[in-house]
Amino acid sequence: MSFNIDNIIRENIKKLKPYSSARDEFKGEASVYLDANENAYGSPLERNFHRYPDPMAYAVKLELSKIKGVPPRNIFLGNGSDEAIDILFRSFCNPGTDNVIIVPPTYGMYEVSANINDISLKRVNLTADYQLDLDSIAAAIDEHTKMIFICSPNNPTGNSIRREDIETLLANFNGLVVVDEAYINFSRQKSFIQELTEYSNLVVLQTLSKAWGLAGLRVGMAFASEEIIEIFNKVKPPYNLNEASQELALAALKNVNQVNEWIKELLKERDSLVLALKNFDFVLDIYPSDANFILVKTTDANGIYNYLVEQGIIIRNRNKVELCEGCVRITIGTPEENNTLIDSLKSYKA
Ligand SMILES: Cc1ncc(COP(=O)(O)O)c(C=O)c1O
Repeated sequence: MSFNIDNIIRENIKKLKPYSSARDEFKGEASVYLDANENAYGSPLERNFHRYPDPMAYAVKLELSKIKGVPPRNIFLGNGSDEAIDILFRSFCNPGTDNVIIVPPTYGMYEVSANINDISLKRVNLTADYQLDLDSIAAAIDEHTKMIFICSPNNPTGNSIRREDIETLLANFNGLVVVDEAYINFSRQKSFIQELTEYSNLVVLQTLSKAWGLAGLRVGMAFASEEIIEIFNKVKPPYNLNEASQELALAALKNVNQVNEWIKELLKERDSLVLALKNFDFVLDIYPSDANFILVKTTDANGIYNYLVEQGIIIRNRNKVELCEGCVRITIGTPEENNTLIDSLKSYKA
């Protein structure tokens, strides 16, 4: 049996008649809008936000489409990619019956979203070198397995997952393979977006929160077949991407050169930080990173974390995460921030 969207969509979603907003029902230009119960006088601000935004954020999709080489009909935009993760659960997984596979250590929201939606989780740990254990994944799949989440580059380990392994899953699994590429702009690896025409069960997640520097605006993306994107659009709240975020995201997308410059600088900083950290005897290992952070194995993650908090420097303690014992995750900062971190660590006494 090969992948068929009809076999995995929830019955209630298949039958769902989506909400029809005022902006869905009238799309042209008019001189007087009295259809959406907005405040016709304006906003108590220097500029107006009194009109509902475009429900489909089409202008943003069009600009993204130029950058990513994917037609707008294959793009979903959400309130962060966390919204896309939640919509996947609500569209494809029946509470109490279905399950999804995650491959820890990985991004925590897959598990939280599964728990919120009452979907059971099958955990198939990554191998010791943080790659997929394909045999164990194959053994974990059953008739109720709807999705497999792969984060590449992976959070918190920083490495990319081997492309051939993801392709093996895409070719053999009859549910959705969700490839979360939140950190792809920092990676030497190619995005899976180009594979959308090859695999109808592929969903690629990306975000403007990382390399694009827009975490505060909450703009996330899912790229998938037209059929899957139509389901996303049916399930999402009518105006999920607010007007300010749409306008600012659109302006930012026209400034790709700035983002590329920052990425180049950040990668240099990542190398320098790795070199500097290697000098400390409490650093046991620094894992190869394709992301804007590094996972560092230390002799005492709790001690280092607490010491840095006292210095006003916050990193992420991953000591309690299985396969990351003794590890801290450090986001690459500006050169000044990275120097402050290294200087502080020089005074750390184990
Ligand atoms: C792997 C991964 N996916 C998704 C997200 C969430 O991104 P967004 O800000 O678009 O919701 C994060 C945030 O840290 C992440 O690390």
